[in-house]
Amino acid sequence: MNNDRRLVNIALIGFMGTGKTTVGRLVAELLRFEYADTDELIQAQTGRSINDIFQNDGEPAFRALEQKIVEELARCTRTVIATGGGLPVNPKILASLKQHALVVSLWSSPEKIWERVRHQSHRPLLHDPDPQAKIRELLAVREPFYKQADVLLNTELRSVREVAQQVIHQFRLESPDRR
Ligand code: S3P
Repeated sequence: MNNDRRLVNIALIGFMGTGKTTVGRLVAELLRFEYADTDELIQAQTGRSINDIFQNDGEPAFRALEQKIVEELARCTRTVIATGGGLPVNPKILASLKQHALVVSLWSSPEKIWERVRHQSHRPLLHDPDPQAKIRELLAVREPFYKQADVLLNTELRSVREVAQQVIHQFRLESPDRR
């Protein structure tokens, strides 16, 4: 791993419904780290829902907010950062996260993702006449970006606790002075 990096945080990237929030919260609890979620921070800073931002300002405006939040998060230490599913498509954002965080990508099949998100309505990109096709389409476009993470973890056959333990194990391997 590049020695210029200062791995004081953990960032979880991956598609909607792969478990970033649940795994992130557990990893933070187990390591006694802070927890930050880019979607929550955007909503707190703007006082608006993600749906509202997408509908009224458009996706590019949302992506600009994501970039601003990630720039602010570069000041954090001992923090688990859960990110919105589309965030790593911007190479600047991924590069920024990699400066200070071990980047872990959570992965699931489109079928499992659909099972997890089908009863939720807070994700504007899935307000589509054929959300399952949309998931497959977006996953195909984003796969090369998710694969740029330091660690890839399939969350489909593992419990939340197992995934969290794997994330911690990898963090300790890469950041041995921070046990
Ligand atoms: C998005 C994923 C969402 C949220 C927004 C856009 C995406 O976050 O950032 O709805 O582009 O995949 P989650 O991955 O936490 O659902």
